[in-house]
Amino acid sequence: MADTLTDAAPGYPMPRAAGCPFAPPPAVEELRDAAPLGKVRIWDGSTPWLITRHADQRALLTDPRVSNDDLRPGFPHVSAHRAGIARTTPRMITNTDAPEHTRLRRMVTGPFLIKRVEAMRPAVRQIVDRLIDDLLAGPRPVDLLTALALPVPSLVICELLGVPYEDHAFFHHNSSRALDRSLPPEEAGAAGRALGGYLAKLLDQKLTDPADDVLSELGERVTTGEMTHDEAVHMGVAMLIAGHETTATMIGLGTLALLRNPEQLAVLRGTEDPKAIAGAVEELLRYLTIVDSGIRRVALEDIAIGGLTIRAGDGLLFDLAAANRDPRAFEGDAAGLDLGRPARHHQAFGYGPHQCLGQSLARLELQVVYGTLYRRIPGLRLAVPFEEIEFVPDGTTYGVRALPVTW
Ligand code: HEM
Repeated sequence: MADTLTDAAPGYPMPRAAGCPFAPPPAVEELRDAAPLGKVRIWDGSTPWLITRHADQRALLTDPRVSNDDLRPGFPHVSAHRAGIARTTPRMITNTDAPEHTRLRRMVTGPFLIKRVEAMRPAVRQIVDRLIDDLLAGPRPVDLLTALALPVPSLVICELLGVPYEDHAFFHHNSSRALDRSLPPEEAGAAGRALGGYLAKLLDQKLTDPADDVLSELGERVTTGEMTHDEAVHMGVAMLIAGHETTATMIGLGTLALLRNPEQLAVLRGTEDPKAIAGAVEELLRYLTIVDSGIRRVALEDIAIGGLTIRAGDGLLFDLAAANRDPRAFEGDAAGLDLGRPARHHQAFGYGPHQCLGQSLARLELQVVYGTLYRRIPGLRLAVPFEEIEFVPDGTTYGVRALPVTW
């Protein structure tokens, strides 16, 4: 059975349909609807399993026989480029399994607890309001990505970590290079190391002169021997990289999706109810599922699922967008955007032990932006025809290259 599946494995990733930039590739949805799992062929000719259904993803992402160690043979890398980067990346929160992963993750759960993140709401509101004031006072049209979508998460993650925002041009440049799949691995690796060097210096400062921020907390753990200096630096790098591009992409793509669905935008513009705004954020996260290359793992042992057997050493690809539109998990028209839909069980943040560490922070930022921007600028509209908007199809996240808007 497995051989037939291997011989017939279609290429992956698959293209999106022309004119449907928000929908997952139709072929991925067909695979999801046809069978619980199947195999696909990736760039190096290998044929990992593609997991598309919501329930199967949950089962496998919480299965201890499934590993996130990207140095294991069979791990299905996104590209030759990412495989090269993996070889030089230190072991950190994103590429370890329990018990190592549990230990590292425990070092940073405190700052991301809902209660502590919630305490940042007034500061995030101030940041968003100030940026919108500047937007309203400045020239138009304006690129919403550079004027709002990127600065919001950058300012917030700087505040949380204790990184001076004046340096944002440096770390933004290097974190986007570290994620850039078109760069040779050495250059992407060099960008990651530049960030590491920067954070190592900052950590040393916090060790002698601690402040009320996450880097200082990590410094304290280094002093007590709970983690090494290198581990603290790598944790800072992971948060800095993961903390801004993702949220920025959601602000840009989310705004575009709302402008294309004016009746849904009107719902959001017409409410100040925090629950309704929080619900809208969940639905936009589900509908857009920006981590579109999915998440990847490798099986440590044989696993029986859906009448098939995943063999030890087989790669696993989790197509999060397919699961987020799985009609078995979402009632009604799962392909449509419906801000009133209960969508909190989506998998845009992944699932299981590696589920997004920063999700409460991302939710807060998106709630404040979506709950403020369209109310304060009710006439917000695209400054160019929709057809001219350029999408970034092969990044770590799927979004727009720029979003020229006016009002
Ligand atoms: C809308 C915004 C965001 C989205 C869609 C998103 C998505 C994800 C996804 C899908 C994963 C799971 C990766 C896996 O299982 O392999 C993840 C992990 C992670 N995210 Fe996010 N993320 C967002 C914002 C943030 C923010 C603001 C931070 C801030 C620190 C952050 C930090 C992390 C970290 C450190 C991990 C690794 C966790 C681990 O491996 O244990 N993310 N994110």
